[in-house]
Amino acid sequence: MSDKNQTTFCRTLINHQRYPIDDPKRLERRRTIEECRKALAGDGCAVLNGFISPYGLECLLTEVEERKPLAYFSKSKKTNIYFSSDDPALPPDHPRRIFLERTNGFVTSDHFDDNTAARRLCYWPPLSRFIADCLGKETLYIYDDPVSNMIVNVGKPGTCFNWHFDTNEFTITLLLKPAASGGHFEYVPNLRSAEDENYETVRRVLKGDRRRVVRLDLKPGDLRLFLGRFSLHRVTQNTGDTDRLLLVMSFAERPGMIGSQHRIQELYGRVTDAHIEAERDRVRNDGLMD
Ligand SMILES: [Fe+2]
Repeated sequence: MSDKNQTTFCRTLINHQRYPIDDPKRLERRRTIEECRKALAGDGCAVLNGFISPYGLECLLTEVEERKPLAYFSKSKKTNIYFSSDDPALPPDHPRRIFLERTNGFVTSDHFDDNTAARRLCYWPPLSRFIADCLGKETLYIYDDPVSNMIVNVGKPGTCFNWHFDTNEFTITLLLKPAASGGHFEYVPNLRSAEDENYETVRRVLKGDRRRVVRLDLKPGDLRLFLGRFSLHRVTQNTGDTDRLLLVMSFAERPGMIGSQHRIQELYGRVTDAHIEAERDRVRNDGLMD
């Protein structure tokens, strides 16, 4: 598709009047970026309400509903919030020793071909430019990973994504369909820092202390930028009878990002030739494993 066609189409997917993200001269764009940066600097979370147009939402939802049967559900596992193993030397109520259920399903990127609205939007250069500006980054590149660069998180009734910190500095998500009840995104802003794990407060949150917990009331079509490295967060149990659907886009500051064969296999149930090749290159580059 030509750049011009992609632009015309992508403009219809977003609420372009309010978010003219491909026009740097527009005051609305500059204002949104300013507000975003302020919100991110404050508590690590920025929401762009109604970012996707009703037409865009219809296109994206139709594509996702069609592909939902292809979702991969990794075996439900109990993990601590750091994804580390148990340490019996610590007291039993230490956060590193509190293990919570994690249930998750994903429709992966390789199920969306180049003609899908999801892919056309995620690969539209003005979108990554705009997100980079909101995050204060020089340039962002969509992951090169053909499985995980754009995934749909499927939260079935009864499932939850329990408390955790992210390994990534930021995550970019679009809510397509909320749960009919439950399935709320909650976070505890700036709970830890690079210097301090703040175990005592973390422990209290895990034991049910809600004093610092913020709950977001997200609507379909809302774009969320979130810094999850220092803010503990979760999606509460989906207590409704329909699936919660969330599109997750992955960007990095360097080009060519691709997940490790092992991690992609574990999370998404399969890998592609690109992963096997990247793994081979990794081995060759560090010269350690063969
Ligand atoms: Fe997360």
